[in-house]
Amino acid sequence: MRYRASALGSDGVRVTMESALTARDRVGVQDFVLLENFTSEAAFIENLRRRFRENLIYTYIGPVLVSVNPYRDLQIYSRQHMERYRGVSFYEVPPHLFAVADTVYRALRTERRDQAVMISGESGAGKTEATKRLLQFYAETCPAPERGGAVRDRLLQSNPVLEAFGNAKTLRNDNSSRFGKYMDVQFDFKGAPVGGHILSYLLEKSRVVHQNHGERNFHVFYQLLEGGEEETLRRLGLERNPQSYLYLVKGQCAKVSSINDKSDWKVVRKALTVIDFTEDEVEDLLSIVASVLHLGNIHFAADEESNAQVTTENQLKYLTRLLSVEGSTLREALTHRKIIAKGEELLSPLNLEQAAYARDALAKAVYSRTFTWLVGKINRSLASKDAESPSWRSTTVLGLLDIYGFEVFQHNSFEQFCINYCNEKLQQLFIELTLKSEQEEYEAEGIAWEPVQYFNNKIICDLVEEKFKGIISILDEECLRPGEATDLTFLEKLEDTVKHHPHFLTHKLADQRTRKSLGRGEFRLLHYAGEVTYSVTGFLDKNNDLLFRNLKETMCSSKNPIMSQCFDRSELSDKKRPETVATQFKMSLLQLVEILQSKEPAYVRCIKPNDAKQPGRFDEVLIRHQVKYLGLMENLRVRRAGFAYRRKYEAFLQRYKSLCPETWPTWAGRPQDGVAVLVRHLGYKPEEYKMGRTKIFIRFPKTLFATEDALEVRRQSLATKIQAAWRGFHWRQKFLRVKRSAICIQSWWRGTLGRRKATKRKWAAQTIRRLIRGFILRHAPRCPENAFFLDHVRTSFLLNLRRQLPRNVLDTSWPTPPPALREASELLRELCIKNMVWKYCRSISPEWKQQLQQKAVASEIFKGKKDNYPQSVPRLFISTRLGADEISSRVLQALGSEPIQYAVPVVKYDRKGYKPRSRQLLLTPNAVVIVEDAKVKQRIDYANLTGISVSSLSDSLCLCRCGDIITFAGGPGRDGTIDFTPGSELLITKAKNGHLAVVAPRLNSR
Ligand SMILES: Nc1ncnc2c1ncn2[C@@H]1O[C@H](COP(=O)(O)OP(=O)(O)OP(=O)(O)O)[C@@H](O)[C@H]1O
Ligand SMILES: [Mg+2]
Repeated sequence: MRYRASALGSDGVRVTMESALTARDRVGVQDFVLLENFTSEAAFIENLRRRFRENLIYTYIGPVLVSVNPYRDLQIYSRQHMERYRGVSFYEVPPHLFAVADTVYRALRTERRDQAVMISGESGAGKTEATKRLLQFYAETCPAPERGGAVRDRLLQSNPVLEAFGNAKTLRNDNSSRFGKYMDVQFDFKGAPVGGHILSYLLEKSRVVHQNHGERNFHVFYQLLEGGEEETLRRLGLERNPQSYLYLVKGQCAKVSSINDKSDWKVVRKALTVIDFTEDEVEDLLSIVASVLHLGNIHFAADEESNAQVTTENQLKYLTRLLSVEGSTLREALTHRKIIAKGEELLSPLNLEQAAYARDALAKAVYSRTFTWLVGKINRSLASKDAESPSWRSTTVLGLLDIYGFEVFQHNSFEQFCINYCNEKLQQLFIELTLKSEQEEYEAEGIAWEPVQYFNNKIICDLVEEKFKGIISILDEECLRPGEATDLTFLEKLEDTVKHHPHFLTHKLADQRTRKSLGRGEFRLLHYAGEVTYSVTGFLDKNNDLLFRNLKETMCSSKNPIMSQCFDRSELSDKKRPETVATQFKMSLLQLVEILQSKEPAYVRCIKPNDAKQPGRFDEVLIRHQVKYLGLMENLRVRRAGFAYRRKYEAFLQRYKSLCPETWPTWAGRPQDGVAVLVRHLGYKPEEYKMGRTKIFIRFPKTLFATEDALEVRRQSLATKIQAAWRGFHWRQKFLRVKRSAICIQSWWRGTLGRRKATKRKWAAQTIRRLIRGFILRHAPRCPENAFFLDHVRTSFLLNLRRQLPRNVLDTSWPTPPPALREASELLRELCIKNMVWKYCRSISPEWKQQLQQKAVASEIFKGKKDNYPQSVPRLFISTRLGADEISSRVLQALGSEPIQYAVPVVKYDRKGYKPRSRQLLLTPNAVVIVEDAKVKQRIDYANLTGISVSSLSDSLCLCRCGDIITFAGGPGRDGTIDFTPGSELLITKAKNGHLAVVAPRLNSR
């Protein structure tokens, strides 16, 4: 198969697809259509065997699923398996029942067409199991309905109840369905199960009173006896022992290893509650089950006139109680027959045989009608409560058909005849819907086609059901005709009417060889599934299904609510003869066929691998037989010779149009032309497909499979595009939302900021205005207009003052205060200076204090009076200018104890010639002492000192006066005159006028 790159993306995808296909066919082929040697039965069986050995029990023939019963739990029905098969293409996963289930479900949802899954196969092939698995799949994987979620549970729980009442152990199957079941599951438009309905077909009621050797009665009897509570059994008058009940011992097989009656009973009890049984209803139902068992134990004895009399009083007592009927009426009904002749009622006593017949007839009627009631009850519980709502009208239906399988026993009777006829009909339907219709379709579509021969079993169906000439018609005729009709006369009539039919044989009609295998009271039918020999014994009775009138009357009078629903009084007054059982069955089957034909079919063909119910055993003969009669080879041949897949052009184009650029997204022309363009684009080879009148036919599943895979790839990319577009849109929306929000916040914030700024500006403008106004009126007395300004000036002066305070005591700066604060400013200034002074004073040392004090004294004396005073201010006072070693010790001796307070070298000017002489001037506490070298030259006591004078110049000259004696610079002398003149440098000389001339430099201009 070739694809263009644009359809598949790349060749790599094709390789993956093909390798996946090979991997899937690992064990044999998973679709028989792919079998190399498809005409060989041996190859077919070999493929089945290879797969069966590997526990691969499912294989396809196109869309038909072939299933081989594994007789063991393969663990392939788990939730994971369900998930694996959900929503995937049929061909992508290994064959499985769930693949069929999912395909059907998807078709139901997407095409909204009703579907039907037909499960066929012989008894024990696995039909019921398959039905249960399908139901389980739908219950677990479908979405829950908006209302009435309990429907899913009810659908599931209806099964154990119906199986208990309608299934039994047979020689073929330990859980053989003894009734046919067709179940509709209704889905709403969302695909959720919202309701269900069950149709049941002909229960094998003869089993109630008789079982073949190795078989059992219906499960429910054993379950009740094994699992029922003591109290319940006591109430029902039952013993916990099946052997005590004649209806349960006929097959001599009450215990079966594969069945656990006790635990099954628990399941049934629980299920009854789920499907809406009230406690009372359960009690009524159990009373009926028990009454059947008691009926079986009713014995009769013949009196002198050979009339039957009930001998088991105890049973009768229980019966009257359980069925809520009059004891005497029941006794009479069991031993007498009421005949109405000419409007008069006559009671005719029954003999022993008749009484036993009447008893068994009653048991069968009670049980079978109860079964019908049970189905009705379940249907009421499954019926959607929303039947009136509009959504209900748009429901689609999925039908599941699980009918009793074809069966052959040693002894086959009326029931087997009906069951096998039913299977014959379904096979006919299968042929109609697959082989025949398929070939007809090719013709209708104008496809060149080599017809495939297959066996059409219509001939057998006709043999059974044809009007007037069919077996059922003849049987009915025998039942209805007046006169002595017996089973044997029926056989004779049959022989007369259908003797030439190729599928019919009796002892009389058979040739020598086959005659031996046929009894005289038997006839043989060559069914599609093989020969079955039926014994005619009981055919008429069973077909008539007579229940004596007085028994009916008795039951109509029952107070048991279930019984009174099962036996309706209108039945008594109805003069019309009821339809015979076979005819009723025929009609119901016709209806069933109609129902199935109205739906899209899917098939599961079940095969039984061996008769021993053993796992792992592959009985080739048995399987070959089934393959043959199920028509699987023909099915395969038609499939292979024909086309694996066909689809209306519209549907095909609709599905795959995305794979071709010309057809995507819409094709404007005729769908047929569109499909032609599409398949050309996909690279289909001419032998791979044919174009019919309304449909395209694709020959190989591989072709479709590859197209499906391509679609899947395409879908992914389309999905990615849609996702991308959606994400883009989604995020853009989000972005726009965020942007809008941001803009909103921004504008709000800007507004807030703007308002704040405006408020500030307004305040500032007002403040400035107030200040200007205040400034203008600053000299006016305080008033509201200038108060703000004045306060502002005041506070700002005070606040600024802190930064403009004088740095030290000598700093005289001080900011200029506003007029209003002048006084306060002055006070503050004083405070500040005092504070600085105080701080300064606290911090100076005593030596420094003394210096300052001396400086203060010097200041008082010299400040402003002596020219060089300012130069002296920075120079510190010292205690002496002569060290102790510079003063002669002799002088010190001369001074004695008198200490020297200050000593300084001086130049003494003589008064006579003003000759300068170097001397030392010593100050003691009492006197001034002038020393020349080591000699005290002069001592002037302070008492004699009349004054000390200096000039105002910077001459360093000092005059000490004692009396009128003036001593220059510390020397004794005589009176003289000193002339002071300012000059550039210090010069002390004797002037010509005899005065001392002192030229002192001018330091301070005064
Ligand atoms: N898929 C399966 N997996 C495991 N066991 C199975 C499977 N199918 C059937 N069986 C076994 O086979 C038995 C018979 O199957 P089932 O009752 O479904 O047969 P049937 O076709 O309904 O027969 P009948 O026509 O008698 O009702 C089951 O009880 C079960 O033990
Ligand atoms: Mg079954």
